[in-house]
Amino acid sequence: MSKCIGIISIKGGVGKTSCTANLGAALANEFGKNVLLVDANYSAPNLGIHFGITQPEVNLHDVLRNKVDVGEAIYEYTENLHIVPGSLLNDKINPYKLRQTIKQLKKYYDIILLDSSPNLNDEIKSVMLAADELIVVTNPDYPTLSTTMHAVKVARTKNIPIVGLVLNRVRNKSFELSIEEIEKASSVPIIGILSEDISVPMSIANTVPTVMNNPLGNVSVEMKKLAAAILHENYADPRLLPRLRRLFNKEPGIAEVNRDLLRKGVLY
Ligand SMILES: Nc1ncnc2c1ncn2[C@@H]1O[C@H](COP(=O)(O)OP(=O)(O)OP(=O)(O)O)[C@@H](O)[C@H]1O
Ligand SMILES: [Mg+2]
Repeated sequence: MSKCIGIISIKGGVGKTSCTANLGAALANEFGKNVLLVDANYSAPNLGIHFGITQPEVNLHDVLRNKVDVGEAIYEYTENLHIVPGSLLNDKINPYKLRQTIKQLKKYYDIILLDSSPNLNDEIKSVMLAADELIVVTNPDYPTLSTTMHAVKVARTKNIPIVGLVLNRVRNKSFELSIEEIEKASSVPIIGILSEDISVPMSIANTVPTVMNNPLGNVSVEMKKLAAAILHENYADPRLLPRLRRLFNKEPGIAEVNRDLLRKGVLY
């Protein structure tokens, strides 16, 4: 069954677009799913840039304005990883339109990911209306945590299931909030922990998602683990050190435990 997941936060720059691009690439490239990524950040779209689509002739705005059929706005990055880019030339959107468009596309894709705007207005509302589930992206600092708690509250008020939190740009510094603190304050399970990693901006510059550009890096492996859990499949980290850790029965981390519950379908 096709599923549409909105990737949200109500703070800018936390990593929604990077997460959308890489989770999408993991689902398509590692697990062979038919994946569509949609840039629903209407006022500051940049998902296309991650895939080398800089000035798309046809974009989501044209679709939502009924200027073109949605098929014309779909760009093929690979055979099974497709993108609907946005445009900087925007006008007011009807938040209900995206939902209709996604409904139409569901029969062609296993997973549709919506890259959201951070603005708590009609832009994020359109994603919340179109998505079956949400992933909230956050960073380990107080200002981001407070907006994350608010995003969770809004989603819960609207009864949209939250798959979990992806904690991005972790540097393991003493001043950062701990995983336990973030989980407790937000009351949402952490399902991915992505380190601050230069391979992320490097991949954007190369217009190749990190998952494909640096497949054994921490961000890539974590994204593949999350993709596997969403699909209720397994993914074994192929790197030597994690394999040795597993061999010596080192306790799994919180995200690992939560992903296992997600894989088994008992997390939320
Ligand atoms: N794990 C990471 N390590 C290093 N840099 C990162 C990481 N994640 C994201 N970035 C960088 O942070 C910047 C913002 O990321 P991104 O565009 O994904 O955030 P966003 O939440 O989509 O922002 P916006 O709210 O403006 O849409 C980008 O330049 C990206 O390269
Ligand atoms: Mg973005």
